Amino acid sequence: MDRAPLDWKSLPFGLTPTDFNVVYRWREGQWGPKEVRTSFDLTLPMAATALHYGQAIFEGLKAFETRDGRTVLFRPRDNAERMLRGAKKLLMEAPPAELFLEACEEVTRLNRRFVPPFESGAAFYLRPFLIGSGAVLGVKPSNEYLFGVFGTPVGPYFKGDKKTIRLRVDEEVHRAAPLGVGDVKAAGNYAAGMRAVASAQADGFDNVIYLDARETRFIDETGATNFYGVLTGDGRPRYVTPKSRTILESITNKSLLVLAPELGFEVEHRPVEVSEIRRFSEAGAVGTAAVIAPVGSISWRGETTTYGSEPGPVTLRLYDELTGIQRGLVPDRHNWLHEIR
Ligand code: PLP
Ligand code: COI
Repeated sequence: MDRAPLDWKSLPFGLTPTDFNVVYRWREGQWGPKEVRTSFDLTLPMAATALHYGQAIFEGLKAFETRDGRTVLFRPRDNAERMLRGAKKLLMEAPPAELFLEACEEVTRLNRRFVPPFESGAAFYLRPFLIGSGAVLGVKPSNEYLFGVFGTPVGPYFKGDKKTIRLRVDEEVHRAAPLGVGDVKAAGNYAAGMRAVASAQADGFDNVIYLDARETRFIDETGATNFYGVLTGDGRPRYVTPKSRTILESITNKSLLVLAPELGFEVEHRPVEVSEIRRFSEAGAVGTAAVIAPVGSISWRGETTTYGSEPGPVTLRLYDELTGIQRGLVPDRHNWLHEIR
């Protein structure tokens, strides 16, 4: 295989055109055959429910080249299940897990020359999405759906000269409501948060921390990741991550909740008051795109808590273990890797 002529070490988290994508259409009660495509464009009816009523959800997962030359997906079934949960909430037809897997495998296989080499540390990002594609005028679920997957090689989500990111607690915008859809990857959740993130970025921050919508008191997550803090003191370091109905169930965080105790850390998965940021010795932003982005500081009501310009020891240990498994350097003892042949 001839690899695409890219500068693998300086890839941004952005779109690089690749060779193929796939779509499937749900019509008259069933999923049609796989359509392998080269065009990046879709044709949709103007009245598609995705465009007007937000029947749109997506996923994000990565393929990695391991040290021994395999190409693997990280926990793709978990993404398939999360898409299914999201589809149920938005009254959409979801692709069965097997179809979801087939699509992700196929897009990776067909674009193998875009899967970054092991040494680069970069990854091939897959973006499965599901949209209501039928034309409907009244507010009701679509009668047709389109499930597609495209992929693109990516570098770090938070890029810059610094090794740690700056977050700001936002008290002006709630990302999601307790009985709403904040726990699934609904496209509208991201539109809802754009003004908060854009305003923080204009002020020199990398992203925001959203608080819970009921009391504006507990940490939820950032615009594109879950959040954790580390408590140290007597005994073992504690990995503290918020529990809330308005947080996306991150597959990365779910993995870290398994790895942390194996590495000798305590785990606390509970509501986290925003004032606790002052007690943390480290913090991190975790997700597929961000991996584990070490947090250097958090600003809240004009006060800045600083964790430093280098990742702390707990963050480094978690990062090495997670990425070690993903890249085949550490045994995959939980069967999280799905090999693509
Ligand atoms: N929270 C939000 C709002 C996200 O968009 C993401 C990204 O998918 C995450 C958390 C992290 O989830 P995961 O680790 O499954 O990528
Ligand atoms: C991901 O981590 O996969 C995400 O979807 C986050 C962001 C790019 C929306």
